[in-house]
Amino acid sequence: MVEVPDTGRSERIAGLFDSVVESYDNVGVAFFGPIAERLVDAVAPAPGARVLDIGCGRGAALFRLAAAVGAEGQVTGIDFAPKMVAATARDARARGLANVDVRVMDAMDPELPHGEFDVITASFVIFFLPDPAAALTRWRSLLVPRGTVGVSTFGAWDPRWEQLSDLIAPYRDRSVFTVDPRDPNGPFGSDAGVERLMRSAGLVDARSSQFDLVLRFEDVEQWYAWTRSHGQRMLWESIPENELGHVRDQVFERVDGWRDDSGLITSHHTIRLTLAQRP
Ligand SMILES: C[S@@+](CC[C@H](N)C(=O)[O-])C[C@H]1O[C@@H](n2cnc3c(N)ncnc32)[C@H](O)[C@@H]1O
Repeated sequence: MVEVPDTGRSERIAGLFDSVVESYDNVGVAFFGPIAERLVDAVAPAPGARVLDIGCGRGAALFRLAAAVGAEGQVTGIDFAPKMVAATARDARARGLANVDVRVMDAMDPELPHGEFDVITASFVIFFLPDPAAALTRWRSLLVPRGTVGVSTFGAWDPRWEQLSDLIAPYRDRSVFTVDPRDPNGPFGSDAGVERLMRSAGLVDARSSQFDLVLRFEDVEQWYAWTRSHGQRMLWESIPENELGHVRDQVFERVDGWRDDSGLITSHHTIRLTLAQRP
């Protein structure tokens, strides 16, 4: 993949995540937690293992990894959004986790010792990177021989979101999201695509699995709060203020039609986990 000139892109993504530090994964909708749980189960670090969680955010994978490796293990979390790192480091201290270390660092080139980590995870991170293959190549060098890297990406997205396309697609900021992570023809939109990325970074035994995740929202306000609590927030922020109310009203009307028999608004997703090994 061709490296995209950064032109402030990294600062904008880090700023985006810093702006959601309080609400991220915290609006009563289980999304990043269940995904991280499956990823941690899949990479299955042994007690005592040394693990690196890249793009650790608010610790969805990090804290589960810390529990898996136990007091004898060591978990390092890195993220380039300083407020996310500060809040997660504070949580680690509050939980009394002496085996967790959280640092501000760019996933593109982590300044960490080579050949040190048994496992590397990156849950919902890889599609933010300007050159994922180059990043994976760097991550490979941080692993011990036969060490495992595991990433999560989007599988099929509920087709009903297509109903919103004519309303919101015109505002998508393509200078930040250069590739749609859900595009089935893009590098992150198929098992083969993500596995190819892994192989292009010199990793071996790339394999993927998928699982279903159903999101349930009480009402459109909770749905809206959820979409504003993570990367999708950028979309709302790309809509000019004088158009926002009108766009939002139309979006709400359509999303309200996604209610199931129980009255909850539901959204059905599949999530992909892809694992590979350092030779
Ligand atoms: C969708 S969040 C996922 C966070 C966490 N892994 C989880 O599952 O909840 C993506 C995270 O990746 C971080 N990130 C994106 N690009 C990064 C980069 N180049 N270097 C470090 N962190 C990055 C963001 O700051 C954000 O915290």
